[in-house]
Amino acid sequence: MNVQTAVKHDIANPALAAEGKKKIEWAERNMPVLAQIRERFEKEQPFKGIRISACMHVTTETANLMRALKAGGAELALCASNPLSTQDDTAAALVHEYGISVYARNAVDRDGYYSHINASLDIKPHLVFDDGCDLVNTLHTTRKELIDGIIGGCEETTTGVIRLSQMTKDGALKFPMIAVNDTDTKHMFDNRFGTGQSTLDAIFRSTNSLVAGKTFVVAGFGYCGKGVAERAKGMGADVIITEIDPTKALDALMQGYRVMPMTEAAKYGDIYVTVTGNRDVLREEHFKVMKDGAILSNAGHFDIEIDVAWLEQNAKSKNAKMRHQTDEYVMADGRRILLLAEGRLVNLGAAEGHPASVMDMSFSDQALTAEYLLKAAAGLGAGLHNVPIEIDKEVARLKLESMGSTIDTLTPAQELYLNSWEHGS
Ligand SMILES: NC(=O)c1ccc[n+]([C@@H]2O[C@H](COP(=O)([O-])OP(=O)(O)OC[C@H]3O[C@@H](n4cnc5c(N)ncnc54)[C@H](O)[C@@H]3O)[C@@H](O)[C@H]2O)c1
Repeated sequence: MNVQTAVKHDIANPALAAEGKKKIEWAERNMPVLAQIRERFEKEQPFKGIRISACMHVTTETANLMRALKAGGAELALCASNPLSTQDDTAAALVHEYGISVYARNAVDRDGYYSHINASLDIKPHLVFDDGCDLVNTLHTTRKELIDGIIGGCEETTTGVIRLSQMTKDGALKFPMIAVNDTDTKHMFDNRFGTGQSTLDAIFRSTNSLVAGKTFVVAGFGYCGKGVAERAKGMGADVIITEIDPTKALDALMQGYRVMPMTEAAKYGDIYVTVTGNRDVLREEHFKVMKDGAILSNAGHFDIEIDVAWLEQNAKSKNAKMRHQTDEYVMADGRRILLLAEGRLVNLGAAEGHPASVMDMSFSDQALTAEYLLKAAAGLGAGLHNVPIEIDKEVARLKLESMGSTIDTLTPAQELYLNSWEHGS
C-alpha cells in the first residue's frame, strides 16, 4: 500500500519507496522480538497523543522501530544521526509507505544535517530518541524553548552516553535521559557482534581485501573493538590492539593479540579500524610511517578518530572515490593511503550497518524504555539514568525464545542458596 500521505519530509528520492519497503520487510523478518512488541503496542496504544523526535541512523532496522512506535499511537519525526548512514530508499518508504515524517538524505552537508535535526524538533516532542547526543545537544543550545515540553528520552550509543553523563555532572541536562546503550542486551551484542561483523563487511564492500594473512590494527578494545578484533582474527588476520587502558590492554594480550602503541603499530598495519570514541587516534605521526596501500577506517561514532583534515591538506594528490566509499591519498613520497567512508562510521557509510537480528534487541530495549519513560519520568528527575534490569532481562528472554533456545530455572534449594550467606564449605 502506498499511503501517499502529506507527512512533512525532506528525502532524496520518493521513487525509491517500493524498494525501501521490501528491505524494511526483510529486516522485519529478523526482528521477531520487536514485532511482538509492535503487536502489543497496537492493542494498548501506549503512545497515543505522544510526539517523538528521533535522531537515529535511517536504516531498515530503525524503520521497524518507528513502525512499532507509530503502531503504539505516536506521532513521529525522524532525522539522521550521521550524514552518511541514511539509506535513501528506507527514508522514502517511511514517508510514502508508512506515513512517517523523515528528514534525511544520504551525504547531506553539515548545514543540511542540522537543519534536519531542527525540522524533526519542530513537532515539539514529548519524547526524544538520540544516537550520539546531537539532538539533545541542539535542544540545550539553540532550541531551549522546547525543553519544558519534554518528558524524557533514550540514548543509543556509547559516545552519546559519555556526552550525557558529562552534561549530568555539569547540571546541564534538563530532563531524564536513559542510557539504552548500557543494557547488556545492547552493548554485549550490538556493539560487539554487530559492529564486528558489519565493519568487516564494509571493508570487503569497499576494498574487497583478503583479511587472511594481513596485519589488522584495532584501536580501542572496548565492546566494539573486541567484536572487530574477534572477526578479523577468525578470518586469519594477525591482529594488533592499541589501547590507553591497562586492563583492556591486558585482556587483549591474554586473548592472544599483540598489544603496542599506535606509533609502533602504524609501521605494521595493512588494515586499520579505530573504534575508541576518542579523537586523533590516527594522525600525522602515524600516517608518515604507514605502509604503501594501508587501509584506514573508523567505526567509532564521530568522524574525529582519523585526522582526515591532515590527509586532505598534506597529500600530494587525492584519487576520490576510486572504489565504493574509498578515497586514495598519495603522499609526497609516493605511498598511498586508502581512507574508507571519509573517516565516518564505516559500517554504516560503506555497508548497511548492523544485521537486523542484533538490532532486534537494541530497538526492543528502545521501544520498552520509551514506554517505561512515559510512566516513570516524573519520578526520575533530570539527568542520565539506567534502563530497569527487568527490561534488559525480558528482551534477552524473548530473544533467546525466538532463537529456539531454552535455559534452566533455579530449583527452590538453589534459589535459597543464592539468597543466603550461612552456608560454608
Ligand atoms: N559503528 C557502530 O555501529 C557503533 C556501534 C556501537 C557503538 N559505536 C561507537 O563506537 C565507539 C566505541 O564504543 P564502545 O562501546 O566499544 O566503547 P568502549 O568504551 O567499550 O570502548 C572504547 C575503548 O577505546 C579505548 N580508547 C580510548 N581512547 C583511546 C586511544 N586514544 N587509543 C586507543 N584506545 C583508546 C578505551 O580505553 C576503551 O577501552 C563509540 O564512539 C560508540 O559510540 C559504534
